[in-house]
Amino acid sequence: MRVVEVTTYGGPEVLDMVRRPEPVAGERPGRVRVRLHAAGVTITDLRIRAGLYADELSPLKPPFVLGADFAGKLLDPAPGPEGELPVGTRVAGFVPWYTERSGEGTYAEIVQVEPGWLAPVPDDVGFTQAASVPLAAITAHQGLERLGLPAGSSLLVTGASGVVGRFAVQFAAAAGLEVMAVSYEGDESELKVLGAKHCVRRGDGAEILAAAREVAPDGFDGLFDGALIGETALPAVKNGGTFIALAEDRAPVSVRDIRVETVLGKPDAVLLTKLLRQVEARELITRVADVMPLEEASEAHRRAEAGHRPGRIILMI
Ligand SMILES: NC(=O)c1ccc[n+]([C@@H]2O[C@H](COP(=O)([O-])OP(=O)(O)OC[C@H]3O[C@@H](n4cnc5c(N)ncnc54)[C@H](OP(=O)(O)O)[C@@H]3O)[C@@H](O)[C@H]2O)c1
Repeated sequence: MRVVEVTTYGGPEVLDMVRRPEPVAGERPGRVRVRLHAAGVTITDLRIRAGLYADELSPLKPPFVLGADFAGKLLDPAPGPEGELPVGTRVAGFVPWYTERSGEGTYAEIVQVEPGWLAPVPDDVGFTQAASVPLAAITAHQGLERLGLPAGSSLLVTGASGVVGRFAVQFAAAAGLEVMAVSYEGDESELKVLGAKHCVRRGDGAEILAAAREVAPDGFDGLFDGALIGETALPAVKNGGTFIALAEDRAPVSVRDIRVETVLGKPDAVLLTKLLRQVEARELITRVADVMPLEEASEAHRRAEAGHRPGRIILMI
């Protein structure tokens, strides 16, 4: 089968398509095989490829296959949250690549996954759309749960124009939080449709803090740091508030009794089943920015690194 390997740590050019043997049924006990149609390119992929997590990932080292999000069809039957999913079922999910550290990601034609990592894809949701949901939506949902704020509380979402940030805005609004979104220029009206009550453009930190002070003079009850801004965003949080970080190396040191929590998305088949149904019902909005063939993984990484993409970049397999 074709896979894209990180051949050595470095820039997008270190990605190379090679052939590996196809996994056979039962090769990894407890796992099922999925023939992939789509895989997501995430910012975490870029950071891993660049070697930013080389120490944490050791002894795993290149060559390895990147990729967390996937959508495809089951090659083996799998137990699902609502009964067995037969061969051929359309499914999506994510490989918890960073915690698994097996180096067997989704930039590949076939992956072997635990049944608890996937959920069935509703008929009206395409593979590319489905592959844009799992890691980002589950991370945002689990981050909001960890915040644990009651309805009416105030929340600042950085990176709200990003894939995780958009989901965080939607879940927070649905939970009755008053959301201020730090957005990419031009995204303000869309973020308001998604549920943000206030928007401020990303850019100058002092301007953002000034705008945040107008909305929440004593600081926000919570901050969801979808842009991995870290410490410089901390002044926007009130004394005793909560700061949700999405990467351990970007979690600020706590001051003023602020609870700082780092959330690493954990697969949850029940939650993902529900979220994919919400996508089908248009109750949850997801966006795909680009769809590119697996062969163009290097170019996909270059695009992702170049800055703002209005949604997930998807590799078609
Ligand atoms: N902990 C986990 O399990 C987990 C799971 C998924 C993702 N993540 C991490 O979460 C982050 C968000 O992921 P994503 O998929 O949503 O990425 P994304 O779509 O690229 O979104 C990141 C957003 O942050 C904005 N941003 C970046 N630097 C900024 C800065 N200095 N100031 C203001 N805004 C800034 C970007 O703005 P532009 O649009 O203008 O570029 C973009 O809107 C990534 O860093 C990823 O590694 C963690």
